[in-house]
Amino acid sequence: MSKTPSVLPVMVASENGRAGMSAAMELLRQGGSALDAVELACRITEDDPEDHSVGYGGLPNAAGEVELDASIMDGRTLQTGAVAAVMGYGSPIMLARRVMEQLPHVLIVGRGAERFAAELGRQPADQRTEAALARWRERFVEHGLTPGVDGDLRGLARQLAVPVTLRDRGPVPAQEVKRDDTQGTVNFLARDQRGDLASAVSTSGVAWKYPGRVGDSPIIGAGNYADNRYGAAACTGRGELAIRVSTARSLILYLKMGMSLIDAGLEALRDLVFLQPTSGHYMNIVAMTPDGAVAGFASAPHGVYLHMHAEMDGPQLAERICLPEQE
Ligand code: GLY
Repeated sequence: MSKTPSVLPVMVASENGRAGMSAAMELLRQGGSALDAVELACRITEDDPEDHSVGYGGLPNAAGEVELDASIMDGRTLQTGAVAAVMGYGSPIMLARRVMEQLPHVLIVGRGAERFAAELGRQPADQRTEAALARWRERFVEHGLTPGVDGDLRGLARQLAVPVTLRDRGPVPAQEVKRDDTQGTVNFLARDQRGDLASAVSTSGVAWKYPGRVGDSPIIGAGNYADNRYGAAACTGRGELAIRVSTARSLILYLKMGMSLIDAGLEALRDLVFLQPTSGHYMNIVAMTPDGAVAGFASAPHGVYLHMHAEMDGPQLAERICLPEQE
């Protein structure tokens, strides 16, 4: 009787993925697929009202509306699905998975994605929480504007730079750095017992963004990529950067060219640094190779990520790798 090959399940995630990773690892231990694992992990994060970077309770756009983006990719087939700028429905990662499985398309946005959700029988649900709206109001007051007043939002959208840059923070132990949720997102990469890879990304996007703005998270190749043959990668941070240099796919291509995981990640960071990001704009990457090696990278110091394999008790934090100071 032939035996199904079994490899050790592994996951890697952005630092806000702890609860999702624990539940998804249980699924992987029971023989679940990498695709189901990353979807489950994302859904748990999306439903957490305390996480203001994703799903329900995500920080609103400049007009006070929550617009959600998500994508999922199957490393076995390179099939993928994504939704962007979805308003009034939760769990965008479920929609992304259904796009992949039920439509002859890859990316559905705005009204179309909302129609698709309704056709799937999903109930509309306001994704705004009082806490997230309070922060949006505070932001308007900071800029001397009146919340809720329709008008020209271009000025506000231009002033989105995060006030404290991670670089300015000095040597702080990684565990004590407060996460910047105004550019937050959640990433999950998984390898299952069959050795298949999958990746999922979900976000409410950059806080106070111009309505309709879409970042890297639902753009396959920018914020998300998985290919069983070479590896998987996903991004958090300022999506405009990853879109401009196709960060997730670039890292995988560097692996395909024969670079080690560390060298591939550093090369992807060099691509990002070449863009000379505005102070406070940063990009983080998590990556995994088919043999289960994982790493996290960041364009600014003090970033952390989570990793876990099936024989560990729970997710562990590790420091992200940056480019050497002299570069
Ligand atoms: N990385 C999430 C975004 O820029 O929307």
